[in-house]
Formats: sequence, C-alpha cells, structure tokens
Amino acid sequence: MIEHILNKSEFTKSDIIELLSVEDKAQSELIRQKAYSVMKENSGELVYLRGLVEFSNYCVNDCFYCGIRKSNSNISRYILKKDEILDAVRWCAGQGYGSVVLQSGERNDKNFTDFVVDIVKSIKIETRTDKLPEGLGVTLCVGEQTYEDYIRFFEAGAHRYLLRIETSSPELYSQLHPEWQSFEKRVECLKELRKAGFQVGTGVMIGFPGQTIEHLADDILFFKDMDIDMIGMGPFIVHSDTIYNELEDAYKENKSRIYKLALRMIAVTRIVLKDVNIASTTALQALYPMGREAGLMHGANVIMPMLTPTYVRNEYQLYDGKPCLDEFSSDCFNCIRHRIESTGRNVALDEWGDSKHFKAKDIKNYEN
Ligand code: 5AD
Repeated sequence: MIEHILNKSEFTKSDIIELLSVEDKAQSELIRQKAYSVMKENSGELVYLRGLVEFSNYCVNDCFYCGIRKSNSNISRYILKKDEILDAVRWCAGQGYGSVVLQSGERNDKNFTDFVVDIVKSIKIETRTDKLPEGLGVTLCVGEQTYEDYIRFFEAGAHRYLLRIETSSPELYSQLHPEWQSFEKRVECLKELRKAGFQVGTGVMIGFPGQTIEHLADDILFFKDMDIDMIGMGPFIVHSDTIYNELEDAYKENKSRIYKLALRMIAVTRIVLKDVNIASTTALQALYPMGREAGLMHGANVIMPMLTPTYVRNEYQLYDGKPCLDEFSSDCFNCIRHRIESTGRNVALDEWGDSKHFKAKDIKNYEN
C-alpha cells in the first residue's frame, strides 16, 4: 500500500522506487493528487511562464541522442542577431511573461560568451517596465562554461541557469555521451553555478535505453543532494539523425509507457522535493498533444512557451516531433494561456516566479 509512503515527509530510495513503480490506476491517481496538493501547499497554484528563445544551434558537443549535436550535418546552423532576440523578449515583456530563457547549443569561445553577456545586459535594460522595474528575469541554458564566465553572466543580470545532468548514473552518462564529455565535469559545473549565485536548474531524460526505475529514483535523490532549485525533465524521444534511429519502432510501441513514467517522475519529484520549480516540458507535448497540461496536473508549475522566430524553429529540433514548428510567438502565447486555464490554473503575469526553494535558503542564510 502506498498510502503510508504518501503520508511521510522524508523518503527513502525504496519509497521512491515503490511510488515510481505503481501501475494500478487508482493508486496512480492518489500519487498525482498528492503531488498536486504538495505543489499547492509549497509553491502555490499559479503557473509561471518563461519565454524560450533558442538563439543558436551551433554546438561543440556530440551528445549521441541530440538532434543539434556537432556531428549532425543534416541541419543548417544559425545564430540569431541581437535585434531578433531583443524583439522577441520585448514582445514577451509586453505580454507580461515575467521571465525569459535563452537557450542554445554549447560554445565556449569568447565571441560566444561575450555575445551572451551583451544580450543579457541589454535585456535587463530594455525590458524594464513599471511592473518589473528590474526587467525580465533571465535564465540561461548555454551549457558548460568556466566559473569566470558564470560570474560574468550573473553580473550581467542573469539569475537562473539550467544545466541538465541527463542522468545521475555515471555509467549511463558515458553511454549517452562521447568520452570527452564527462559526468564529473557536469556535476562540478552545477556546483560552480550555485557558487556564482545562480538559482540552479537541472533534470534528466526519462526512458532512454538501459535506464531503470532504480536509476530514476537515484536521479530524484541526486536533485535533493545537490539542493537543486528548478527541475526540467522530459521523455527521451528518438531523433532520426542519431544512433538511436533504429530504435524508432520499438519506441513508438513504448510511447505510452514512457509518457506515463515521465508524468510519474514529475509527481514523485514534487512529492519528495516539495518547494522547487518544476517545468512541464515541450517534450511531453511532443509525445501527446495534451502532454503539457498533464504535466501541470502532476505538480509542475512552470511552462516555457516558444519565442524562437518561426523561420529557425525547424533547425532546433533536439528530438523528432517537436510541436508548434510553424506557429508564431503570439499563437504560442494564446494557446499556452488557454492550455493552462483549461487545467483550472491561472497564469502569473509580470513576476519572475523564482523558486520558493531558493528563497527559503536565502532567508535561512540571512537569519544565520
Ligand atoms: N529526447 C529528449 N530530450 C532531449 N534533449 C536532447 N535530446 C533529446 C532527445 N532526443 C534534452 C536534453 C537537453 C535538453 C535541452 O533537451 O535533456 O539537456
């Protein structure tokens, strides 16, 4: 019986495994309801928006599963111009989004890191409004950089950073990445990001070959051990230009299992971590049209509508089946708002929507 587990406030690995393994419908619903009530109590019911600008698909990494990895020559590479990015974020500020995420493939050259610093500074100046006198909240998702660059980004005005660990198992990590991409380095980066002052987000892919429920339980414990503030997780989806291509048929058959597992991961992560921000990711919607709404019903409280200009969206496909490829940002905004409201939730407007977990730590440090 899972009721006694759901009534706990601290969870062991075997509790987490038990919750992740439940298949019975009524018990699954109990877990979902618990996740929703933990969210309501600790983070509230509002949904926070982060306008997502995928500003470049150049990448120095070669993650085996990813459509924009360096060795994929079937896409054309782009980097948006500063003006294009600023147009998108100004529009976003005008709509009351509160925050943006600047995401790109990884590059470590000075031209790139200088560009990021310059863009962040401009966004902070150009998006000031009466309601948001410090401008939009800026989250960066630009990969592994040096500690010095993290500090430069933070000083430029970015205050959140997303860097997925992808899996907390070093063995699985080495199966998903070439030898020169190291698990230890990724963990070190997460620690450096915190030290630089960022609210730190991470996450994993769910359902890739070789991953078990036990690995997923370890992932949740990893988030807790690392004192993570924000989580973004989604189902693993085969991209046809990757080595996983031959698994495509098997994955189609498994789609519903992976989808349910991804929603369960959101719910159990919410139950265990309580006051973190959790995103309902686009990858959920790539599997099922109502996937992002379902994520919200399982305890997620953040959505990232796409602001990337339509003409480059095709070139930023990390996995097959990415939704909204030919829509305009305004379509995405109205559609997302509708989707959120259809779940009985309201959208938070003109707020950064910081992680309550981070704020609680801040208050603790202040009191000490
Ligand atoms: N399936 C699901 N998620 C993927 N990502 C990259 N490729 C895939 C894929 N094939 C995710 C990774 C990365 C994030 C930006 O997108 O987790 O960190």
